[in-house]
Amino acid sequence: QSSPQYDFVIVGGGTSGLVVANRLSEMKNVTVAVIEAGDSVLNNANVTNVMGYSLAFGTEIDWAYETANQTYAGGLKQTIRAGKAIGGTSTINGMSYTRAEDAQIDNWGNIGNQGWSWKDLLPYYKKSEDFQVPTKDQAAHGASYTAKVHGRNGLLKVGWPTSMTNSSVFSVLNETMSELGVKYNPDANSGKMIGFTSHPDTLDRQRNIREDAARAYYWPYESRESLKIISNTRADKIIWANTTGDAVAIGIQVSTPYGVERIYASKEVILSAGSLKSPQLLELSGVGNPDILNKYNISTKVALPAVGENLQDQTNNALAWESTDALTGLATFSALISVDQLYGKNASAVEKQIDNALTDYAKALSKKSNGAVKESNLLEALTIQRDLIFKSLVPYAEVVFAPSGQSFTCEYWPLQPFSRGSVHIQSANASQSPNIDPNYFMFAQDIEAQSDVAHFIRRAFGTAPLKDIVGDELSPGQEVLPANASTSAWDSWIKEHYRPNYHPVGTVSMLPKKKGGAVSSELKVYGTKNVRVVDASIVPYQISGHLTSTLYAIAEKASDIIKESYTH
Ligand code: FDA
Repeated sequence: QSSPQYDFVIVGGGTSGLVVANRLSEMKNVTVAVIEAGDSVLNNANVTNVMGYSLAFGTEIDWAYETANQTYAGGLKQTIRAGKAIGGTSTINGMSYTRAEDAQIDNWGNIGNQGWSWKDLLPYYKKSEDFQVPTKDQAAHGASYTAKVHGRNGLLKVGWPTSMTNSSVFSVLNETMSELGVKYNPDANSGKMIGFTSHPDTLDRQRNIREDAARAYYWPYESRESLKIISNTRADKIIWANTTGDAVAIGIQVSTPYGVERIYASKEVILSAGSLKSPQLLELSGVGNPDILNKYNISTKVALPAVGENLQDQTNNALAWESTDALTGLATFSALISVDQLYGKNASAVEKQIDNALTDYAKALSKKSNGAVKESNLLEALTIQRDLIFKSLVPYAEVVFAPSGQSFTCEYWPLQPFSRGSVHIQSANASQSPNIDPNYFMFAQDIEAQSDVAHFIRRAFGTAPLKDIVGDELSPGQEVLPANASTSAWDSWIKEHYRPNYHPVGTVSMLPKKKGGAVSSELKVYGTKNVRVVDASIVPYQISGHLTSTLYAIAEKASDIIKESYTH
């Protein structure tokens, strides 16, 4: 039996991969195959249930990647969740739909990625979206929007849940946040994120089920002849043509339940395996840092030390209070706060502190990468981040209010940590997970931010009218961390109770090569003729929104870029 051949072979049928698969298979006389390690979860109740966040964790559809021991964060390993299914991580995530701040996307262009700005991406955010206008009842409970920034003809349903919190909690939170200087934002998806908001979710309101990438982009198109998903199949490495010059991919070597096989690609190979797996696949294929490849006897096809570096994730903690109100339904309330709102008059002192540290941060990060990332490139990236935080005033922290039944939980994460890490192979065997090391809390500023936001949340729960609908603080609790608790007591509590925020980006960054990039603005891997990466790996700097809305937009734009290169 001869090996199958397609025009395009996409690795990873997840959030981004299925968008690209759908759009490329719209072309005439083109065939597209998607290699996906997981299986269908179309009727998996842990996926479909809109109230079922976390039910899928630890099941067979969760990769549950383990990190290296986190040296700066208490020493323990952490679990980073990611979906192993047709639909990828969009099948297990929290469904929040919040885009980036406009200035953050503009910076992708400013640093040299031609064609990438908020103005360039907004049409693609809209293209992907099938926005469900809130009902009167939903509007009464906080749902609001600016029509011109939403799309009505896209494939991905976005809206508010039928079971939206049906109480006065929205106005209570809104008034309280306003007291703290955080004003209501009628639409945090407009490119201006700051404020208190009720954001939409990726869900199908009529059917009251999760809307994931597969339900939007694959299942309705399952019978399209040009589109094939090869599930339960792990991609192991790229097969290269025996040519000189830029490397030419001709297919993928895969492991199926029946053994090792080859799937050939006549036009392109597109990696969409997620930010913790796409770099692994590149390294297994000989694209990466020769020092790392040599260790595992992988011959270097393309020397590209940026692969696997610049891993950026956030850290999440939760505080909780007793609830005195019986609150039910799915809450979608967030406060996205700037440094001005968090620190008030002290913001410039914090800025100064960070300014004084940036050179040391760049030096330390470059050293961690054994020089794979240049100190000058890091300093530029960190300076851009500093400017976004203190000049553009992008959201610095997200505070999510989740009132339910007996308790009122508040999860939060600083959005712009300075720590960075890496993901690299630790074996030449694709079955072995890579070494994932986010270096959580590598820098003092990141742990300080974590406790500063906790203090802000305590202030909020001590402010009327919110204070009137909650009882005692359950976690951490005043007996554990009283009002005068020391910084080191807070640091210990944070390190003991944090978890990854599951927003890893940057491991195959879209940046000019001389600035330490791994893919071009057309998402092509440097030094290759026909390999692209389209997933969270390419996001060069962490954004303040949740990731999927932006990834859907990136994948829509990437599809147009690819299509264009075959129609001219
Ligand atoms: P994604 O993980 O979707 O796709 C990668 C695919 O590749 C997977 O299907 C995987 O099985 C497959 N794959 C990997 N290696 C392979 C191999 N070797 N061979 C074949 N297939 C392979 N975002 C948001 O917008 N709102 C939210 O509320 C949340 N909440 C949230 C909660 C949790 C628990 C998590 C884990 C994440 C979130 N996120 C989120 C983040 C968001 O869901 C996530 O960043 C994106 O879905 C990632 O999309 P990608 O396309 O990059 O990879």
